[in-house]
Amino acid sequence: MAELRVPQLRVLILGLAPAVAVVALLAAGGLIGIGPALTIVAAIVAGGWWIATRPPAAQGTDETEHIAAAPGLPEHLLDQLPDPVILLNDAREIVAINRQARDVLGIGATGRDLALSLRHPAVLAAVETVSSGVPSITEEITLPVPVPRSFTLHVGGLPGTAGTDAPGMVLVLHDETRAKRAEQSRADFVANVSHKLRSPLSAVIGFIETLLGHARDDAEARERFLGVMHSEAQRMSRLVNDLLSLARVETNEHVPPRGIVYLEDVFNGVADSLQVRAAEKDISIVVSCDPDLPPVIGEADQIVQVFQNLVDNAIKYGRADTEIRIEANAVGRMPGSDAAGVAASVTDQGEGIAAEHLPRLTERFYRVDEGRSRRLGGTGLGLAIVKHIVNRHRGQIRVDSEEGVGTTVTVFLPARPETDENGEDESEITRFSTGGDVTKA
Ligand SMILES: Nc1ncnc2c1ncn2[C@@H]1O[C@H](COP(=O)(O)OP(=O)(O)O)[C@@H](O)[C@H]1O
Ligand SMILES: [Mg+2]
Repeated sequence: MAELRVPQLRVLILGLAPAVAVVALLAAGGLIGIGPALTIVAAIVAGGWWIATRPPAAQGTDETEHIAAAPGLPEHLLDQLPDPVILLNDAREIVAINRQARDVLGIGATGRDLALSLRHPAVLAAVETVSSGVPSITEEITLPVPVPRSFTLHVGGLPGTAGTDAPGMVLVLHDETRAKRAEQSRADFVANVSHKLRSPLSAVIGFIETLLGHARDDAEARERFLGVMHSEAQRMSRLVNDLLSLARVETNEHVPPRGIVYLEDVFNGVADSLQVRAAEKDISIVVSCDPDLPPVIGEADQIVQVFQNLVDNAIKYGRADTEIRIEANAVGRMPGSDAAGVAASVTDQGEGIAAEHLPRLTERFYRVDEGRSRRLGGTGLGLAIVKHIVNRHRGQIRVDSEEGVGTTVTVFLPARPETDENGEDESEITRFSTGGDVTKA
């Protein structure tokens, strides 16, 4: 453990006080939250600690090597901070990076110029501004891939480091994605509920008023109106359930799933639960899986929901007395990526979907034939839920359809990476689930 002598301690306190004061002022003014403020203060102190305790720089060594081998670097300390933190030297090379930053940003190596590891113009501009003498900068940024995430970026200069290879700047990112998504999803939920529930509610109120008024003693009208009220109330209940599902899925879309899912089990479960509804139309459900199918990385409940929604559509829009096939095969490469995956498809023999509708099918409330979907108990949200779940799983959806013949919806999901013979290597799973969420330069 590095030793801190009294004069160094004084330098550390005097040097860091202004930076800490700036952060305190930002927090007091409500510009940044208490959580990020504490992280920033901790990172500044960690950087300062290292400057104060590091041994004098050795002369004439290769700089990159020297940085990578710098003793006393507080990475273990930085790893304990909940937010991504990067320390840069005066030449804007990375001298330390904590685990969170590696996971979120996909940056591995220290000793490289930040611009080579993270090509984000706003981050680089903030670093530029601070190195030109501005004490610190706090701003909101969005990192685009694979799912957009919002961060509060704080860049602060560390005092007394000019011309040395000691940390001259600290970058802290605080993830605001969940808060942002929750806010957006609340706004969408309120807008959709008030818009979509209004008409069934006024229909129900109208029937109740009629039953309380002139149809009071009309037994036949009572029977009929109660039937309509019942189905309208069920429709409202389905709408609220689907909207809640959608809101939940959207809020967690940036969090990579961590479980392992065996699709054959999912398919058999979904087929069992929908068998009775299919039998009402004399439709049979056939499950067929590649015997060597690898498991996929996913959250089981959500994967079940995907195939429940797809098979539900296949039953609703399939012709009576036909067959629905649920199939899965391993694929060497997922569309648009090099990763191995699984292609899982649901095929019906129904009226199909005209090509012009295909691009819009997964929009919320988009229906090819609104009246028919309503009669069949649809909300227009099933495929929107499917899309968000598949996005969260870093998967892809493809719809192939021929009018008058039928529709195949294929979902591509990343397979669990190959493991050792036991096939149960937990560390592989963890590595993948965090690595799948990175923004690579
Ligand atoms: N298998 C299918 N065959 C024909 N049309 C389909 C199929 N699946 C979905 N659709 C069309 O896509 C629309 C959106 O589907 P979805 O989001 O599940 O909503 P819902 O089923 O509640 O209407 C449906 O209204 C229907 O027009
Ligand atoms: Mg549906």
